[in-house]
Amino acid sequence: MDYFNYQGDTLFAEQVALPTIAANYGTPTYVYSKATIEKHYHAFADAAAAHPHSLVCYAVKANSNLAVLNVLAKLGSGFDLVSGGELRRVIAAGGDPAKVVFSGVGKTADEMRFALQLGIKCFNVESVSELHRLQEVAQSLGKKAPVSLRVNPDIDAKTHPYISTGLKANKFGIDILLAPDIYRAARELSHIELVGVDCHIGSQLTETQPFLEALEKLLHLIDVLKADGIQLKHIDIGGGLGVTYDQEQPPLPADYISKVVARLSSYPELELIMEPGRAIMANAGILLTKVEFLKPGQEKHFAIVDAAMNDLIRPALYSAWMNIVPVVLNNTLGKQLYDVVGPVCETGDFLGKDRELAISEGDLLAVRSAGAYGFTMSSNYNSRPRAAEIMVDGERCHLIRAREQWQDLWQGEQILAD
Ligand code: LLP
Repeated sequence: MDYFNYQGDTLFAEQVALPTIAANYGTPTYVYSKATIEKHYHAFADAAAAHPHSLVCYAVKANSNLAVLNVLAKLGSGFDLVSGGELRRVIAAGGDPAKVVFSGVGKTADEMRFALQLGIKCFNVESVSELHRLQEVAQSLGKKAPVSLRVNPDIDAKTHPYISTGLKANKFGIDILLAPDIYRAARELSHIELVGVDCHIGSQLTETQPFLEALEKLLHLIDVLKADGIQLKHIDIGGGLGVTYDQEQPPLPADYISKVVARLSSYPELELIMEPGRAIMANAGILLTKVEFLKPGQEKHFAIVDAAMNDLIRPALYSAWMNIVPVVLNNTLGKQLYDVVGPVCETGDFLGKDRELAISEGDLLAVRSAGAYGFTMSSNYNSRPRAAEIMVDGERCHLIRAREQWQDLWQGEQILAD
Protein backbone atom coordinates (compact mmCIF):
# COMPACT_ATOMS: atom_id res chain seq x y z
CA MET A 1 0.00 0.00 0.00
CA ASP A 2 1.28 3.44 -0.86
CA TYR A 3 0.19 7.05 -0.90
CA PHE A 4 0.21 7.68 -4.64
CA ASN A 5 -3.46 7.90 -5.59
CA TYR A 6 -5.70 9.65 -8.09
CA GLN A 7 -7.83 12.46 -6.77
CA GLY A 8 -10.33 12.97 -9.58
CA ASP A 9 -8.31 12.69 -12.79
CA THR A 10 -4.97 13.65 -11.29
CA LEU A 11 -2.32 11.53 -9.62
CA PHE A 12 -1.19 12.81 -6.23
CA ALA A 13 1.74 12.04 -3.97
CA GLU A 14 0.06 12.21 -0.58
CA GLN A 15 -1.68 15.64 -0.77
CA VAL A 16 0.45 17.11 -3.55
CA ALA A 17 -0.64 16.97 -7.20
CA LEU A 18 2.16 15.66 -9.39
CA PRO A 19 1.61 18.33 -12.09
CA THR A 20 2.43 20.94 -9.43
CA ILE A 21 5.74 19.20 -8.76
CA ALA A 22 6.51 19.06 -12.48
CA ALA A 23 5.70 22.77 -12.83
CA ASN A 24 7.86 23.77 -9.86
CA TYR A 25 10.82 21.43 -10.25
CA GLY A 26 10.75 20.22 -13.86
CA THR A 27 11.14 16.67 -15.13
CA PRO A 28 12.47 14.01 -14.94
CA THR A 29 12.06 13.98 -11.17
CA TYR A 30 11.89 11.25 -8.58
CA VAL A 31 9.08 11.80 -6.07
CA TYR A 32 8.95 9.90 -2.76
CA SER A 33 6.19 9.69 -0.17
CA LYS A 34 7.39 10.01 3.42
CA ALA A 35 4.24 8.40 4.84
CA THR A 36 4.75 5.37 2.60
CA ILE A 37 8.36 4.93 3.74
CA GLU A 38 7.21 5.10 7.37
CA LYS A 39 4.38 2.66 6.79
CA HIS A 40 6.66 0.12 5.13
CA TYR A 41 9.31 0.43 7.84
CA HIS A 42 6.66 -0.16 10.51
CA ALA A 43 5.36 -3.21 8.66
CA PHE A 44 8.71 -4.90 9.33
CA ALA A 45 9.52 -3.40 12.72
CA ASP A 46 6.07 -4.03 14.21
CA ALA A 47 5.92 -7.65 13.06
CA ALA A 48 9.44 -8.27 14.37
CA ALA A 49 8.61 -6.66 17.71
CA ALA A 50 6.87 -9.91 18.67
CA HIS A 51 10.39 -11.34 19.08
CA PRO A 52 12.35 -10.22 22.18
CA HIS A 53 15.10 -8.41 20.22
CA SER A 54 15.01 -7.29 16.63
CA LEU A 55 16.47 -4.67 14.35
CA VAL A 56 15.51 -3.54 10.87
CA CYS A 57 18.68 -2.64 8.97
CA TYR A 58 17.40 -0.88 5.86
CA ALA A 59 19.49 -1.77 2.78
CA VAL A 60 20.96 1.59 1.82
CA LYS A 61 21.69 0.60 -1.78
CA ALA A 62 17.97 0.67 -2.59
CA ASN A 63 17.80 4.43 -2.06
CA SER A 64 20.56 6.31 -0.31
CA ASN A 65 19.28 9.88 -0.40
CA LEU A 66 20.14 11.56 2.91
CA ALA A 67 16.51 12.54 3.52
CA VAL A 68 15.35 8.94 3.07
CA LEU A 69 18.06 7.69 5.46
CA ASN A 70 17.19 10.43 7.94
CA VAL A 71 13.47 9.54 7.95
CA LEU A 72 14.39 5.93 8.66
CA ALA A 73 17.04 6.80 11.27
CA LYS A 74 14.43 8.83 13.16
CA LEU A 75 12.18 5.77 13.25
CA GLY A 76 15.02 3.85 14.90
CA SER A 77 16.13 1.95 11.81
CA GLY A 78 19.56 0.47 11.47
CA PHE A 79 21.31 0.19 8.12
CA ASP A 80 22.80 -2.52 5.93
CA LEU A 81 25.50 -1.07 3.74
CA VAL A 82 28.14 -2.17 1.28
CA SER A 83 30.69 0.63 0.96
CA GLY A 84 32.51 3.38 2.78
CA GLY A 85 30.41 5.82 0.75
CA GLU A 86 27.18 4.36 2.07
CA LEU A 87 28.56 4.42 5.60
CA ARG A 88 29.43 8.11 5.26
CA ARG A 89 25.93 8.79 3.96
CA VAL A 90 24.38 7.05 6.95
CA ILE A 91 26.47 9.13 9.34
CA ALA A 92 25.70 12.35 7.44
CA ALA A 93 22.00 11.51 7.69
CA GLY A 94 22.13 11.03 11.46
CA GLY A 95 22.18 7.22 11.46
CA ASP A 96 23.57 5.36 14.45
CA PRO A 97 26.78 3.42 13.62
CA ALA A 98 25.95 0.99 16.42
CA LYS A 99 23.02 -0.13 14.26
CA VAL A 100 25.04 -0.65 11.07
CA VAL A 101 25.84 -3.99 9.46
CA PHE A 102 28.46 -3.91 6.73
CA SER A 103 27.96 -6.41 3.87
CA GLY A 104 29.78 -6.84 0.54
CA VAL A 105 32.38 -9.15 -0.95
CA GLY A 106 35.20 -6.63 -1.44
CA LYS A 107 35.67 -4.49 1.67
CA THR A 108 38.94 -2.56 1.57
CA ALA A 109 41.22 -2.14 4.58
CA ASP A 110 40.34 1.59 4.60
CA GLU A 111 36.64 0.80 4.75
CA MET A 112 37.21 -1.67 7.57
CA ARG A 113 39.30 0.85 9.52
CA PHE A 114 36.69 3.59 9.18
CA ALA A 115 33.87 1.26 10.22
CA LEU A 116 35.83 -0.09 13.20
CA GLN A 117 36.62 3.42 14.40
CA LEU A 118 32.95 4.30 14.24
CA GLY A 119 32.01 1.17 16.17
CA ILE A 120 29.56 -0.50 13.79
CA LYS A 121 27.38 -3.35 14.97
CA CYS A 122 28.76 -6.04 12.69
CA PHE A 123 30.84 -6.94 9.65
CA ASN A 124 29.03 -9.44 7.45
CA VAL A 125 32.12 -11.30 6.29
CA GLU A 126 31.96 -13.05 2.93
CA SER A 127 35.28 -14.93 2.66
CA VAL A 128 38.20 -16.32 4.65
CA SER A 129 40.56 -13.77 3.11
CA GLU A 130 38.28 -10.98 4.28
CA LEU A 131 38.29 -12.43 7.78
CA HIS A 132 42.09 -12.31 7.89
CA ARG A 133 42.21 -8.78 6.55
CA LEU A 134 39.71 -7.72 9.20
CA GLN A 135 41.77 -9.38 11.93
CA GLU A 136 44.87 -7.44 10.80
CA VAL A 137 43.07 -4.12 10.60
CA ALA A 138 41.38 -4.62 13.98
CA GLN A 139 44.69 -5.61 15.55
CA SER A 140 46.39 -2.49 14.20
CA LEU A 141 43.68 -0.40 15.87
CA GLY A 142 43.66 -2.42 19.07
CA LYS A 143 39.97 -3.22 18.60
CA LYS A 144 37.86 -6.35 18.31
CA ALA A 145 35.82 -6.62 15.13
CA PRO A 146 32.26 -7.93 15.56
CA VAL A 147 31.70 -10.55 12.86
CA SER A 148 28.90 -12.49 11.28
CA LEU A 149 29.69 -14.91 8.48
CA ARG A 150 27.48 -14.42 5.47
CA VAL A 151 26.71 -17.96 4.51
CA ASN A 152 25.55 -19.09 1.13
CA PRO A 153 22.81 -21.66 1.82
CA ASP A 154 22.56 -22.81 -1.82
CA ILE A 155 18.88 -22.04 -2.20
CA ASP A 156 17.11 -21.12 -5.40
CA ALA A 157 15.37 -17.83 -4.73
CA LYS A 158 13.45 -18.26 -8.01
CA THR A 159 14.09 -14.70 -9.08
CA HIS A 160 15.94 -12.98 -11.94
CA PRO A 161 19.44 -14.51 -12.31
CA TYR A 162 21.09 -11.09 -11.92
CA ILE A 163 19.51 -10.58 -8.50
CA SER A 164 19.79 -14.15 -7.24
CA THR A 165 22.58 -14.39 -4.68
CA GLY A 166 22.12 -17.53 -2.60
CA LEU A 167 23.22 -20.23 -5.04
CA LYS A 168 26.61 -21.95 -5.01
CA ALA A 169 27.25 -20.46 -8.43
CA ASN A 170 26.94 -16.89 -7.04
CA LYS A 171 29.93 -14.93 -5.78
CA PHE A 172 28.29 -14.13 -2.44
CA GLY A 173 28.84 -15.60 0.98
CA ILE A 174 30.64 -18.64 2.32
CA ASP A 175 29.45 -22.14 1.45
CA ILE A 176 27.30 -23.11 4.43
CA LEU A 177 28.91 -26.55 4.54
CA LEU A 178 32.31 -24.95 5.15
CA ALA A 179 30.99 -22.46 7.68
CA PRO A 180 31.38 -24.55 10.89
CA ASP A 181 35.11 -25.00 10.27
CA ILE A 182 35.56 -21.35 9.43
CA TYR A 183 33.77 -20.30 12.63
CA ARG A 184 36.01 -22.65 14.62
CA ALA A 185 39.11 -21.17 13.02
CA ALA A 186 37.82 -17.62 13.46
CA ARG A 187 37.32 -18.24 17.18
CA GLU A 188 41.10 -18.43 17.44
CA LEU A 189 41.62 -14.99 15.90
CA SER A 190 42.59 -12.54 18.64
CA HIS A 191 40.77 -9.48 17.26
CA ILE A 192 37.61 -11.09 15.94
CA GLU A 193 34.46 -11.48 17.99
CA LEU A 194 31.92 -13.88 16.54
CA VAL A 195 28.48 -12.34 17.04
CA GLY A 196 26.19 -13.63 14.31
CA VAL A 197 25.34 -15.36 11.08
CA ASP A 198 23.65 -13.89 8.03
CA CYS A 199 22.47 -14.68 4.55
CA HIS A 200 20.82 -12.89 1.66
CA ILE A 201 19.53 -15.24 -1.00
CA GLY A 202 18.26 -12.79 -3.58
CA SER A 203 15.96 -9.93 -4.31
CA GLN A 204 12.34 -9.55 -5.45
CA LEU A 205 11.28 -12.90 -3.99
CA THR A 206 7.57 -13.47 -4.24
CA GLU A 207 7.24 -16.50 -1.95
CA THR A 208 8.24 -17.10 1.66
CA GLN A 209 9.30 -20.69 1.17
CA PRO A 210 12.93 -20.05 0.01
CA PHE A 211 13.36 -17.63 2.94
CA LEU A 212 12.09 -20.23 5.39
CA GLU A 213 14.37 -22.89 3.91
CA ALA A 214 17.33 -20.58 4.36
CA LEU A 215 16.22 -19.85 7.92
CA GLU A 216 16.20 -23.60 8.70
CA LYS A 217 19.73 -23.97 7.39
CA LEU A 218 20.96 -21.02 9.43
CA LEU A 219 19.30 -22.30 12.60
CA HIS A 220 20.88 -25.70 12.07
CA LEU A 221 24.27 -24.02 11.76
CA ILE A 222 23.60 -22.05 14.95
CA ASP A 223 22.81 -25.33 16.76
CA VAL A 224 25.97 -26.99 15.48
CA LEU A 225 28.07 -24.04 16.59
CA LYS A 226 26.39 -23.89 19.98
CA ALA A 227 27.23 -27.54 20.57
CA ASP A 228 30.80 -26.51 19.87
CA GLY A 229 30.72 -23.70 22.40
CA ILE A 230 30.23 -20.91 19.87
CA GLN A 231 27.19 -18.96 21.01
CA LEU A 232 26.01 -16.43 18.42
CA LYS A 233 24.02 -13.38 19.44
CA HIS A 234 22.12 -12.65 16.26
CA ILE A 235 20.67 -14.08 13.10
CA ASP A 236 20.40 -11.79 10.08
CA ILE A 237 17.98 -13.04 7.43
CA GLY A 238 18.96 -10.47 4.78
CA GLY A 239 16.54 -8.60 2.56
CA GLY A 240 14.88 -9.73 -0.62
CA LEU A 241 11.14 -9.51 -0.07
CA GLY A 242 9.49 -8.63 -3.37
CA VAL A 243 6.94 -5.95 -4.21
CA THR A 244 4.12 -5.66 -6.71
CA TYR A 245 5.30 -4.11 -9.96
CA ASP A 246 2.69 -5.84 -12.12
CA GLN A 247 0.62 -8.86 -11.07
CA GLU A 248 3.06 -10.31 -8.51
CA GLN A 249 1.54 -11.12 -5.14
CA PRO A 250 4.45 -11.26 -2.72
CA PRO A 251 3.68 -11.99 0.92
CA LEU A 252 3.16 -8.90 3.06
CA PRO A 253 6.13 -8.05 5.30
CA ALA A 254 4.01 -8.83 8.36
CA ASP A 255 3.11 -12.30 7.03
CA TYR A 256 6.68 -13.14 6.20
CA ILE A 257 8.21 -11.75 9.39
CA SER A 258 5.61 -13.31 11.65
CA LYS A 259 6.50 -16.73 10.22
CA VAL A 260 10.16 -16.04 11.00
CA VAL A 261 9.30 -14.85 14.50
CA ALA A 262 7.20 -17.98 15.12
CA ARG A 263 10.12 -20.18 14.06
CA LEU A 264 12.47 -18.25 16.35
CA SER A 265 10.28 -18.78 19.41
CA SER A 266 12.66 -21.45 20.64
CA TYR A 267 15.60 -19.05 20.19
CA PRO A 268 14.51 -16.11 22.38
CA GLU A 269 18.10 -15.12 23.06
CA LEU A 270 18.89 -14.55 19.37
CA GLU A 271 18.45 -11.04 18.03
CA LEU A 272 16.62 -11.00 14.70
CA ILE A 273 18.07 -8.68 12.05
CA MET A 274 16.38 -7.96 8.70
CA GLU A 275 17.81 -6.05 5.73
CA PRO A 276 14.86 -4.96 3.58
CA GLY A 277 15.52 -2.44 0.82
CA ARG A 278 13.03 -2.76 -2.01
CA ALA A 279 10.05 -3.63 0.21
CA ILE A 280 10.49 -0.32 2.02
CA MET A 281 11.33 1.98 -0.88
CA ALA A 282 10.08 0.67 -4.25
CA ASN A 283 6.45 1.64 -3.90
CA ALA A 284 7.35 4.75 -1.93
CA GLY A 285 8.59 6.44 -5.11
CA ILE A 286 7.71 7.28 -8.69
CA LEU A 287 9.67 8.73 -11.57
CA LEU A 288 7.86 11.71 -13.05
CA THR A 289 8.56 12.27 -16.73
CA LYS A 290 7.16 14.29 -19.64
CA VAL A 291 6.24 13.08 -23.12
CA GLU A 292 8.44 15.01 -25.53
CA PHE A 293 7.24 13.46 -28.78
CA LEU A 294 4.84 10.85 -30.04
CA LYS A 295 6.41 9.11 -33.00
CA PRO A 296 4.11 6.85 -34.99
CA GLY A 297 5.72 4.05 -36.97
CA GLN A 298 4.60 1.20 -39.20
CA GLU A 299 5.30 -1.49 -36.66
CA LYS A 300 5.49 0.44 -33.42
CA HIS A 301 4.45 3.73 -31.96
CA PHE A 302 6.93 5.42 -29.69
CA ALA A 303 6.33 7.77 -26.80
CA ILE A 304 9.64 9.56 -26.38
CA VAL A 305 9.91 10.85 -22.83
CA ASP A 306 12.47 12.99 -21.03
CA ALA A 307 13.57 10.20 -18.64
CA ALA A 308 15.90 7.51 -19.94
CA MET A 309 17.91 4.44 -19.04
CA ASN A 310 20.45 6.66 -17.32
CA ASP A 311 17.68 7.73 -14.89
CA LEU A 312 16.09 4.30 -14.46
CA ILE A 313 18.06 1.32 -15.73
CA ARG A 314 15.94 -1.54 -14.35
CA PRO A 315 13.93 -2.13 -17.57
CA ALA A 316 17.10 -2.13 -19.71
CA LEU A 317 19.22 -4.18 -17.30
CA TYR A 318 16.79 -6.80 -16.01
CA SER A 319 13.95 -6.51 -18.52
CA ALA A 320 12.04 -5.32 -15.46
CA TRP A 321 8.39 -4.44 -16.01
CA MET A 322 7.45 -1.20 -14.32
CA ASN A 323 3.99 0.29 -14.44
CA ILE A 324 3.69 3.52 -16.45
CA VAL A 325 0.59 5.62 -15.92
CA PRO A 326 -0.64 9.02 -17.10
CA VAL A 327 -0.47 11.65 -14.38
CA VAL A 328 -3.70 13.23 -15.64
CA LEU A 329 -6.29 10.83 -17.01
CA ASN A 330 -7.80 11.96 -20.29
CA ASN A 331 -10.93 10.13 -21.37
CA THR A 332 -11.29 12.08 -24.58
CA LEU A 333 -8.18 10.54 -26.17
CA GLY A 334 -8.10 7.13 -27.83
CA LYS A 335 -5.75 4.51 -26.41
CA GLN A 336 -2.75 3.42 -28.40
CA LEU A 337 0.06 0.93 -27.87
CA TYR A 338 3.40 2.62 -27.28
CA ASP A 339 6.96 1.75 -26.49
CA VAL A 340 7.89 4.33 -23.88
CA VAL A 341 11.51 5.24 -24.65
CA GLY A 342 14.08 7.80 -23.61
CA PRO A 343 16.40 10.03 -25.63
CA VAL A 344 19.56 7.94 -25.03
CA CYS A 345 21.25 6.51 -28.10
CA GLU A 346 20.75 2.82 -27.31
CA THR A 347 18.06 0.45 -28.53
CA GLY A 348 17.91 -0.82 -24.94
CA ASP A 349 16.82 2.61 -23.74
CA PHE A 350 13.21 1.93 -22.89
CA LEU A 351 11.10 2.31 -19.78
CA GLY A 352 8.28 0.10 -21.00
CA LYS A 353 7.19 -1.74 -24.13
CA ASP A 354 3.74 -2.19 -25.65
CA ARG A 355 1.94 -0.01 -23.15
CA GLU A 356 -1.64 0.98 -23.81
CA LEU A 357 -1.83 4.69 -23.10
CA ALA A 358 -4.10 7.61 -23.95
CA ILE A 359 -1.57 10.44 -24.16
CA SER A 360 -0.55 13.55 -26.07
CA GLU A 361 2.77 15.32 -26.45
CA GLY A 362 3.54 17.35 -23.34
CA ASP A 363 1.64 15.00 -21.01
CA LEU A 364 3.19 13.76 -17.79
CA LEU A 365 3.72 10.09 -17.03
CA ALA A 366 4.59 8.40 -13.75
CA VAL A 367 6.75 5.29 -13.67
CA ARG A 368 5.46 3.55 -10.55
CA SER A 369 7.47 1.60 -7.97
CA ALA A 370 10.65 3.48 -8.84
CA GLY A 371 11.69 4.39 -5.31
CA ALA A 372 14.14 1.48 -4.98
CA TYR A 373 17.10 0.92 -7.31
CA GLY A 374 15.99 3.93 -9.33
CA PHE A 375 18.04 7.00 -8.53
CA THR A 376 20.81 4.96 -6.87
CA MET A 377 21.50 3.16 -10.15
CA SER A 378 21.30 6.29 -12.29
CA SER A 379 24.24 7.66 -14.24
CA ASN A 380 25.27 10.53 -16.48
CA TYR A 381 25.37 8.44 -19.65
CA ASN A 382 24.95 10.58 -22.75
CA SER A 383 25.95 13.53 -20.51
CA ARG A 384 22.52 13.77 -19.02
CA PRO A 385 22.37 15.57 -15.65
CA ARG A 386 20.83 13.36 -13.00
CA ALA A 387 17.22 13.98 -12.02
CA ALA A 388 15.96 15.99 -9.06
CA GLU A 389 14.53 14.15 -6.05
CA ILE A 390 11.55 15.38 -4.04
CA MET A 391 10.05 14.07 -0.82
CA VAL A 392 6.40 14.78 -0.16
CA ASP A 393 5.18 14.95 3.43
CA GLY A 394 1.43 15.52 3.54
CA GLU A 395 0.85 18.83 1.75
CA ARG A 396 4.52 19.77 1.81
CA CYS A 397 7.08 19.20 -0.86
CA HIS A 398 10.82 19.11 -0.10
CA LEU A 399 13.58 19.25 -2.66
CA ILE A 400 15.91 16.57 -1.29
CA ARG A 401 18.35 16.57 -4.18
CA ALA A 402 18.67 19.37 -6.70
CA ARG A 403 18.74 18.51 -10.37
CA GLU A 404 22.35 18.36 -11.52
CA GLN A 405 23.64 21.46 -13.27
CA TRP A 406 25.43 21.35 -16.61
CA GLN A 407 28.80 22.07 -15.00
CA ASP A 408 28.30 19.12 -12.62
CA LEU A 409 28.74 16.90 -15.66
CA TRP A 410 32.46 17.62 -15.94
CA GLN A 411 33.25 18.33 -12.31
CA GLY A 412 36.72 17.05 -11.48
CA GLU A 413 37.75 16.71 -15.12
CA GLN A 414 40.83 18.45 -16.53
CA ILE A 415 41.99 19.42 -19.98
CA LEU A 416 45.67 18.50 -20.51
CA ALA A 417 48.06 21.34 -19.78
CA ASP A 418 50.06 22.33 -22.93
N1 LLP B 1 21.18 -7.27 1.93
C1 LLP B 1 22.11 -7.58 1.02
C2 LLP B 1 23.36 -8.20 1.48
C3 LLP B 1 21.89 -7.32 -0.34
O1 LLP B 1 22.81 -7.64 -1.23
C4 LLP B 1 20.67 -6.71 -0.73
C5 LLP B 1 20.40 -6.41 -2.14
C6 LLP B 1 19.72 -6.39 0.26
C7 LLP B 1 20.00 -6.70 1.58
C8 LLP B 1 18.41 -5.73 -0.05
O2 LLP B 1 17.61 -6.53 -0.85
P1 LLP B 1 16.10 -6.09 -1.19
O3 LLP B 1 15.31 -6.15 0.09
O4 LLP B 1 16.14 -4.71 -1.73
O5 LLP B 1 15.66 -7.08 -2.18
N2 LLP B 1 19.32 -3.61 -8.50
C9 LLP B 1 18.45 -4.76 -8.39
C10 LLP B 1 18.41 -5.31 -6.97
C11 LLP B 1 19.78 -5.70 -6.44
C12 LLP B 1 19.75 -6.18 -5.01
C13 LLP B 1 21.12 -6.37 -4.48
N3 LLP B 1 21.18 -6.75 -3.11
C14 LLP B 1 17.07 -4.38 -8.89
O6 LLP B 1 16.86 -3.24 -9.27
O7 LLP B 1 16.18 -5.22 -8.95
